[in-house]
Amino acid sequence: MLSLPPWYQTILESVLGLSVDDSRQVQRLSAGVSELSKRFTQRENELSDDKYTASEDLRSAYLVYYSTVNLLKLYSPLSELFPTGFFKRPALGVLDLGSGPGTGLLGMAGFLDSHGFRGTLEYTAVDHELGNLRSVEKIAGNIKPNVEFTVEVEIHCCDVRLNDAQFGSGYDLVLAMNSFNEIAREESIRIIHDAIAPAVSSTGFLLIVEPALRDTSRELLRLRDGLVASGWTIFSPCTRQGLCPALEKETDWCHSSKAWERPAFIERIDKAAGLIKEELKYSYILANRHGVGAKHQCPDSDDLYRAVSERFDEKGRTRIILCGEIGRNFWMRNKRDKTAGNRVFGSITRYDLLAISGAEIREHDVLVRPDTEVQIHDFLRGD
Ligand SMILES: C[S@@+](CC[C@H](N)C(=O)[O-])C[C@H]1O[C@@H](n2cnc3c(N)ncnc32)[C@H](O)[C@@H]1O
Repeated sequence: MLSLPPWYQTILESVLGLSVDDSRQVQRLSAGVSELSKRFTQRENELSDDKYTASEDLRSAYLVYYSTVNLLKLYSPLSELFPTGFFKRPALGVLDLGSGPGTGLLGMAGFLDSHGFRGTLEYTAVDHELGNLRSVEKIAGNIKPNVEFTVEVEIHCCDVRLNDAQFGSGYDLVLAMNSFNEIAREESIRIIHDAIAPAVSSTGFLLIVEPALRDTSRELLRLRDGLVASGWTIFSPCTRQGLCPALEKETDWCHSSKAWERPAFIERIDKAAGLIKEELKYSYILANRHGVGAKHQCPDSDDLYRAVSERFDEKGRTRIILCGEIGRNFWMRNKRDKTAGNRVFGSITRYDLLAISGAEIREHDVLVRPDTEVQIHDFLRGD
């Protein structure tokens, strides 16, 4: 289960100048969270230039609630990158486009701290709201004494859509967390082509995270197809580079969902603002321009699949939707066909990466037979 970094609440309280256990303060913040939530859901189908984080109250509400629930969304894609040796470097250059008040910095620092990173995190935050960038600087100052690596931060206040917006080059990781949904897709594609592609190092990655809403998730999948068409390779979550099969049917989309230790202050805000964040749901794409696909995670497995639905444990059988080279299909195992080799089929959870061999492709589904071999790669569990 995902949990916040041990130093997280202390840093949050120091940056906000308040205690998140104080019910009056939480009440005030909850009003801001409700307002932001309305803006985000209203905006689902329309883009707006509204700088909602210009107000200090809304910025604090964003930081306490949305940054807290968003920062752990970096962990599972980064966990898949970890076994490749990606983080074994003296300096890790990260560019965060639409940084907000510091979500990405908190997430990166938390992940690196829990994975024994000892180099320098060179973090560049870009946002068109200066208040957010000042918050990023404050957060960096608070993180430094708590971690065993060096943190260096640069800020750039600009509109990422501007034609001449350039962010430098040689970044190991470019993050765009919940920011492309505030920008039209054509502009996002142009930004990726004109500004992000030249900014990523020859061994670098682009990580785009978006809300798990149907529209924003499908927009991300269209963006994913656009990335592949222009020479990017998807490392995660896709195990195929062909067109995304979730786009074939209007009603499909694709998202991860992870359990987390929801802190008491988020539970209180959820109650006060009428929200619920029991699970962390999000869509993401981790891509690169040097041809590193999912296969690099599991070089010994020929057939890799991603679980893209919940698991349905029905009387006499287990079903789940898996996505892979053969498309997005229902897979089924009859209880009587359970063997040592396919035992774990009954414990697959959404977004697990699976190596499966010897299944039978049928007209309407794929059958897990007694001789089918199923393996789960759960990188968060360290398998
Ligand atoms: C929903 S917030 C996401 C913040 C943070 N990345 C997270 O995931 O919590 C979107 C951020 O993108 C910034 N943003 C939106 N449009 C932008 C633009 N055209 N140029 C620069 N920043 C922009 C906003 O100011 C805001 O901080």
